[in-house]
Amino acid sequence: MTTFKFPNDFIFGSATSSYQIEGAYKEGGRGMSIWDTFARTPGKVENGDTGDLACDSYHLYKEDVQLLKNMGAKAYRFSVAWPRIIPVGDGAVNQEGLDYYHRLVDELLANGIEPMCTLYHWDLPQALQDKGGWESRETIAAFVRYAETMFKSFAGKIKNWITFNEPWCVSFLSNEIGAHAPGKTDFQAALDVAHHLLVAHGETVKRFRELGVDGAIGIAPNTEWFEPFSTKQEDIDACARRNAYFNGWFFDPVFKGHYPQLALDWYKAKGYEPPVQPGDMETIAQPIDFLGINYYTGGVGRNNPEEGLLEFEIVDAAFDKTDFDWNIYPQGFYSVLTWVKANYGDIPIYITENGAYYDSDEDNGKYHDPKRIEYLRKHLIQLNRALASGVNVKGYFLWSLMDNFEWAFGYSKPFGLVHVDFKTFKRTPKDSYYWYKQVIAEGGLES
Ligand code: NOJ
Repeated sequence: MTTFKFPNDFIFGSATSSYQIEGAYKEGGRGMSIWDTFARTPGKVENGDTGDLACDSYHLYKEDVQLLKNMGAKAYRFSVAWPRIIPVGDGAVNQEGLDYYHRLVDELLANGIEPMCTLYHWDLPQALQDKGGWESRETIAAFVRYAETMFKSFAGKIKNWITFNEPWCVSFLSNEIGAHAPGKTDFQAALDVAHHLLVAHGETVKRFRELGVDGAIGIAPNTEWFEPFSTKQEDIDACARRNAYFNGWFFDPVFKGHYPQLALDWYKAKGYEPPVQPGDMETIAQPIDFLGINYYTGGVGRNNPEEGLLEFEIVDAAFDKTDFDWNIYPQGFYSVLTWVKANYGDIPIYITENGAYYDSDEDNGKYHDPKRIEYLRKHLIQLNRALASGVNVKGYFLWSLMDNFEWAFGYSKPFGLVHVDFKTFKRTPKDSYYWYKQVIAEGGLES
């Protein structure tokens, strides 16, 4: 038997996001977001599902906090719906919206759970999208103002702040691939959005420092890891391109103040360029206090001139898959973390998301999900390897506390440790919840 212990001060927690769990879309003065619009557009979300009611956490947040507490979670990563705080994005502040998050944060603190707040987990106010959304530079100032409203209102209560969740999804998945709101398929639009998000991130960090907020701030990019299919140089180069497109495009500007040259050259040759203005790259590269890493999957890839703009083909190398059909690639988690350390230094890291969608079997009111447990076990072992290799990881937020609205897949692909009945909103912990509770209690696992 091998034991994998985590440091005594390691923070085990769990994560969710506003649109995926809150519901109450018309309550408390909330404005509409691009996800309200997208979900109402026929054909965009499976079964026509919306986040109108979701898990009803807007009303049931106290139950959710008890679930966290009973699991032994030391921290909770949640996100704030910008349209609850400033319903039209750049207009009046809605006190009722702030009040809701104060109730949530007070409840967390009263139960000894540290809040980690994500400012942007994809629910842009629709009124701003109507003026161009993230393709417009104007949205940067609106975001900084919203962030500042949050910093001031929660001073002393929330210590850990994340500007953006998964900027790749906000830009490329939503504007190049078109699978998420606003659903465009335009590579230049994706580059514009990515750049404006990064500048908004940098401007927000600057404002955070100017205000002297007592706390720490970071960003949470999603990562993935592709190994070359062969030792051929063309396959190695193709994987380097994919890495620059997916990971480096966000990491290099934040840590080094420039985009990856490889990707810049590749895009330029095809007629695309990020809309960089003087001073932007310095703004983006404001030092951050910690880095969030979301990791789910990876695999093997190779060069293929027929395969899209990147000429990169994902090879199905017969990995086992989750029920989402995503490769289970735990060693990629270790590779991402050691790559971050080698390229960007010893920044403190929180794993802001890791988890899996699997169906669970219901049996007399109990939910069995052994495959989720196996996925988590394998990833925690790779995380433990990264710690042993000196990667400065401070905590792990499992995605997700409970079943919720999985974006374009609606309620068909739940990731939760806790089962949610979407008719009654009854929460029932699954086997994986009790397994994670034990990992937290023992500060590690055995294999
Ligand atoms: C990343 C996103 O941040 C989260 O919203 C989503 O539900 C999970 N991945 C699972 O796809």
